[in-house]
Amino acid sequence: MSNIVIVGAQWGDEGKGKIIDILAEKADYIVRFQGGNNAGHTVVIDGKEFIFHLLPSGILHKGKICVIGNGVVIDPKSLLDEIAFVRSKGIKIEGNLFISDEAHIIFPYHQRMDSLREREKRGKIGTTKRGIGPCYADKVSRSGIRVQELFDKDSFRDKLKINLKEKNKIFKCLYGNKGFSFDKIYNEYCGYGRQIKKYAANTTLLLNRALKNKKSILFEGAQGTLLDIDHGTYPYVTSSNATAGGACTGTGVGPNKIDKVIGVVKAYTTRVGEGPFPTEFGPELMQVIRNKGKEYGATTGRPRRCGWFDAVIARYSVMLNGIDEIVVTKLDVLDDLEKIKICVGYKYKGKIYKDFPTDMSLLKYSQPVYEECDGWLADTSVIETFSGLPDNAKKYINKLERLLLARVSMISIGSERKQLINRRHG
Ligand code: IMP
Repeated sequence: MSNIVIVGAQWGDEGKGKIIDILAEKADYIVRFQGGNNAGHTVVIDGKEFIFHLLPSGILHKGKICVIGNGVVIDPKSLLDEIAFVRSKGIKIEGNLFISDEAHIIFPYHQRMDSLREREKRGKIGTTKRGIGPCYADKVSRSGIRVQELFDKDSFRDKLKINLKEKNKIFKCLYGNKGFSFDKIYNEYCGYGRQIKKYAANTTLLLNRALKNKKSILFEGAQGTLLDIDHGTYPYVTSSNATAGGACTGTGVGPNKIDKVIGVVKAYTTRVGEGPFPTEFGPELMQVIRNKGKEYGATTGRPRRCGWFDAVIARYSVMLNGIDEIVVTKLDVLDDLEKIKICVGYKYKGKIYKDFPTDMSLLKYSQPVYEECDGWLADTSVIETFSGLPDNAKKYINKLERLLLARVSMISIGSERKQLINRRHG
């Protein structure tokens, strides 16, 4: 298999977990490159559901090497809990999991800062409160603490002391919050350091050596393109590059080593948290699709906001990521609808915009321009081939291909591995 990057082409939760699990079969290495335990990648095998927050979704495949790259932010407690869970299912981790020693560590003060900021009405993003933004902020301001620093007790002590002094002052002065005791965090995190040391490695070297030895890598994106810190619906975004370029910076692999980018979209659109969402459903349809699609966050359990497929954002994603192939998931969720709409532009102050705007107020105040398709009113969850799909479902997929300027290579029609229409060659 070639080296493939998988990205979400909407606001996350596109069903990437299942697609990564399927493609992982042919890959040698599966690598997470950004985000942290804000992600929730769901894989269902024989009715059993596995949700991964930090571990690459390929971990369920025997003999695959799973890597957490330098671009990821790691909550060590969450990671160790996940390792223990996977091990309890009889899956071997030792020798199969490597964590970049350059990845940044999430501390309790990051989580608390995230929660306190979210409490303020103004500027609320609707984050997962996992401390992701504050941890990346420390990384960028060059005061972050990396995995390797947990192994050097003296340097860790010094850095943590400086950080905590600053953070506790902010907690006290800005939020009237009493902050954290140094000893408690220090001892707890030295303990985590001891437990994760055996997985820590120079993963940049590991991956580049693997490439030299003709091994193939699957890069597992988390969140989605519209949540990208640079290109998403800022400020209602996450704090990392969820777009394909993040696969290079978040692993230390050069762009010329990437052979293909696959973008995953849902057959409709969802988003969690605050921020503009032009095609959002009214309350009635929201409830129908939320129930049928089980649209509740895999990490926080929050109900997801649901809406019609937005071809403007999906085409923007195709362009931004250099997407070669599209995977459409959850087509079956639309099975019972008589009419299905696709947004093909935004109307704002009498003008129609066909391209994704950089001005977020335009997105917020515009009206979606829809094209309507006839529904297929048939059960697609049991269909195995593209030609077996009802005519109107085929037309819907063909229309998406025309609007997105990309080929739909797979269609997922349920959560199980076998519920997949595969049109890929090789
Ligand atoms: P944060 O990543 O926790 O800082 O949250 C920032 C925004 O990204 C919020 O709107 C979250 O709901 C959203 N978000 C973060 N991770 C995911 C995800 O895995 N799926 C969908 N939305 C996410």
